[in-house]
Amino acid sequence: MSYSQKVLDHFKNPRNQGSLENADAVGEEGNPVCGDVMKMYLDIDKRKNNKGEDEEYIKDIKFETLGCAAAIAVSSALTEMAKGLSLTEALALKKDDIVDDLGGLPAPKVHCSMLGVDALHSAIKKYQLRIKN
Ligand code: FES
Repeated sequence: MSYSQKVLDHFKNPRNQGSLENADAVGEEGNPVCGDVMKMYLDIDKRKNNKGEDEEYIKDIKFETLGCAAAIAVSSALTEMAKGLSLTEALALKKDDIVDDLGGLPAPKVHCSMLGVDALHSAIKKYQLRIKN
């Protein structure tokens, strides 16, 4: 099993690792098979989009994980991709977007890419539900 240089770089030097005090949203996902756990913290702010409409976007994002090397690398890459995206754009991110960005993952490790994306989407959905209530 071999990892791309980009995966190794993100694993050895994870970006945006840690937590956010007073995060606007927190999403947590676990993989029942391997037992790994992922937490995503979001700071959400408002801005005008290019149509002049208000939109909410991810101003800052951090992750914490008790996970494998692939889960750490995927989450690090995901936080770089997600920072600055509108919530709609972030909800449209798929695991394949991150796997492609990383130059692929060994087949037995592709499931690890789900944890980060699922935790991100869970955080956004929880945030949106809270706003509506
Ligand atoms: Fe559990 Fe990778 S082995 S997330």
